[in-house]
Amino acid sequence: MRMYDIIMKKRNGGELSKEELRFFIENYTKGEIPDYQVSALMMAIYFQKMSEAETFELTMAMAESGEMLDLSGIQGIKVDKHSTGGVGDKTSLALTPMVAACGLPVAKMSGRGLGHTGGTIDKLESFPRFSTSLTTEQFMENVNRIGIAIMGQTADLAPADKKLYALRDVTATVDNLSLIASSIMSKKLASGADAIVLDVKTGSGAFMKKEEDAFALAEEMVKIGRSAGRTMSALVTDMDQPLGNAVGNSLEVLEAINTLQGKGPADFTELVYALGSEMLVAGKKANTLAEAKGMLEEVIGNGNALEKLAEFVAAQGGDRNAVYDTSLLPKAKESEEIPAPQEGYVSKIVCDEIGSCCLMLGGGRETKESVIDLSVGIILHKKVGDCVKAGESLATMYYNDQAKADAAMERFLKAYSFSSQEPPKTAFIKGKV
Ligand code: URA
Repeated sequence: MRMYDIIMKKRNGGELSKEELRFFIENYTKGEIPDYQVSALMMAIYFQKMSEAETFELTMAMAESGEMLDLSGIQGIKVDKHSTGGVGDKTSLALTPMVAACGLPVAKMSGRGLGHTGGTIDKLESFPRFSTSLTTEQFMENVNRIGIAIMGQTADLAPADKKLYALRDVTATVDNLSLIASSIMSKKLASGADAIVLDVKTGSGAFMKKEEDAFALAEEMVKIGRSAGRTMSALVTDMDQPLGNAVGNSLEVLEAINTLQGKGPADFTELVYALGSEMLVAGKKANTLAEAKGMLEEVIGNGNALEKLAEFVAAQGGDRNAVYDTSLLPKAKESEEIPAPQEGYVSKIVCDEIGSCCLMLGGGRETKESVIDLSVGIILHKKVGDCVKAGESLATMYYNDQAKADAAMERFLKAYSFSSQEPPKTAFIKGKV
């Protein structure tokens, strides 16, 4: 078999066989196929697309390119949750202690920030001394002992995805349905959960900008998971503006803590209840979504979810006091209000631009080697549909470097549009697959 023939077949619109896809993934993982040939194949896939059968075979080949975690040492049904990524997406920080406090074991692999989107692992490192570098044994031990552990993707888990993602990132081949589906599902299948709940984002801050594409992606991932014998469900949710109000690592941790105290923003609270209910039903801790929601409300009301976060932080070496005394979280030295340039209703926020502003402040990586400033970010005070007076604060920017803040402020203002008419209200949860 030759890589040249595989590229040519896809370029001409052919359907790749299981053997051809396995040949490509196995040899690329071993370093025997150069990036330039794989870049050409990615671009051919981007334009010619892949069938469902091809996408499934690609996913399985990627999942099996490294270690397939065996979580059978953890008692109970293991339910994982994965978001396709967005701005202000701190869902796992609040959701995982909530469901763990309801008795559902959470054994989760999370990622770092990517492009304009943030990552759970970076956010968790806002807790002083917190570590996500656990061995598989420590990971399982923590889940069995306290019901929750989160670790970073190990080098052995779906290594083909690691290489392919880095390549797609720089060859303009990220936003293809089959490539996203296989990338996400290969990691999820390799990390061993019995049931997977997906949060597929749509809008200007998501990889799938159009709602119909997000539904198609959700359907494809659900089919892949079911074909691999997993229990699956997916919600398609809004990412046309940042989720909640906080964007930036420690600011998002703070918002997650507020949410665990029942004081979270409405959209974020709606999302964690909806995803948490799906997880509890998938894990057979509740028979109906309504029953599950009641359980989640209880652990928020009685403080058990917040205490579960503190237990989890302590179990991974972090300072549990920071959960109850948030002044211990990283804090930026300076802050500045961003005044509205005109009066009217906020009619649109270009969501990925807000993510990029946070990146410019130092809250994300410019290069693989960059060290993140966990303290910087933005708290939005006005979101789409809100009415604002000229000069009123749209947001507070938290920063440590004036030049970076000036540049980010200019960019921030360009991301907001205003109108004299109230924009139509849109549903936050678009639907379920
Ligand atoms: N997240 C992933 O892990 N992979 C993609 O391709 C897109 C989002």
